[in-house]
Amino acid sequence: MSKLLIKNIKTLVQVREVGILKVSGAEMKELPCIENAWLAVDNGLIADYGSMDDFPGIEDWKGLEIIDCEGKIIMPCYADSHTHIVYAGNREGEFVDRINGLSYEEIFERGGGILNSAKKLSEATEDELFEQAMVRLKEVISQGTGSIEIKSGYGLSLESELKMLRVIKRIKDLNLLPVRATFLGAHALPLEFKNNKEGYINLIVNEMLPKIAKEKLADFIDVFCEQNYFTPDETEYILRAGTEHCLIPKVHAEQMSHFGGIQAGVACGAISVDHLEFCNDTDIEVLKNSETMATVLPGAAFFLGLPLPPARKMIDAGLPIAFASDFNPGSCPSGNMNFMMSLGCVQYKLTPEEVINACTINSAYAMNLSHEVGSITPGKKANFFITKPISSYSFIPYSFGSNLIESVYLNGVKQ
Ligand code: NIG
Ligand code: FE
Repeated sequence: MSKLLIKNIKTLVQVREVGILKVSGAEMKELPCIENAWLAVDNGLIADYGSMDDFPGIEDWKGLEIIDCEGKIIMPCYADSHTHIVYAGNREGEFVDRINGLSYEEIFERGGGILNSAKKLSEATEDELFEQAMVRLKEVISQGTGSIEIKSGYGLSLESELKMLRVIKRIKDLNLLPVRATFLGAHALPLEFKNNKEGYINLIVNEMLPKIAKEKLADFIDVFCEQNYFTPDETEYILRAGTEHCLIPKVHAEQMSHFGGIQAGVACGAISVDHLEFCNDTDIEVLKNSETMATVLPGAAFFLGLPLPPARKMIDAGLPIAFASDFNPGSCPSGNMNFMMSLGCVQYKLTPEEVINACTINSAYAMNLSHEVGSITPGKKANFFITKPISSYSFIPYSFGSNLIESVYLNGVKQ
């Protein structure tokens, strides 16, 4: 792999020492940067960086490609720790139904929502799902994403859950960017088990999980803990069954109501609890005594018109916060992390520094990848983007809806 030397970088953003895996509370306001910087990449990894005042002697570097970044900013790629990008078709019909007055819950109760996506997915081939997911993946890479978590959960049968997870494995095996796979069999109760929830939970625990673990198809296990979906007790039972197969827990928690998902997740050692619209003060205390990353999905709250998670309050209480897109056909049909940053600043009153930390180092932590990506650090993957000429990093969340990314590098290779 070629060596790269990038010079005259207006600002090299999120430069961290080795060993920093997340930033919490007041630390989130700090964003270490080098003005007028250079960055060296070797063998797909970040090799070194510094100020242009100490520009390295070129004779040290043979077979170098040199890039001039005058006026442009470099940031580590976004780490998107919560997506559902493997799905069939779309749900724009339900989008119009919601505009005309139906709620997300009412659509689900009519057999739409997740069940609508499950029906579409059961009719799609593995190849079709792979092709559709790759279109979405390429789009989010062009928008700056350089590591991603992808969930199953539109299968809801052994066969279809395996189909989804095999698609995720195909994406992972491309080695284009770090991918983490999450088994979300407990996303909704499929129609066939409408009156037999216990039967479906047994299917998850006794049939799906052993098969998934044997084929090494998942890193994490997730449950949608919510009224009409899975209770906190069921959530804990399923998560613990996952940990017995070495899967790390995550939870869809407190999205539509305060239901106990955060506490269930923390009790099981979840690496993240996600959504958090109805997170209360007790939950904040519970999170403070844990290693669990509180993950806000601003696009889903925006698209469904939900109350906003108390992100400001959580940071002020000393917690770390991560942002992810939740890219999925029902509650957030976008994986654009630039837009998530704008929502974070405008709606949640977080500073640009806080949202950049939330979308890089902390979201990398939420998928157990912050030793590999999420900051400009020697030895980490050279997954970064170069902006168009812009005045400062704050211009990215400020210019919501604009595309300010000029090029994206994954493993040091321009995409
Ligand atoms: O993260 N909350 C549950 N699951 C997804 C939405 C799934 C869907 O509507 O397809 C979410 O918002
Ligand atoms: Fe989700």
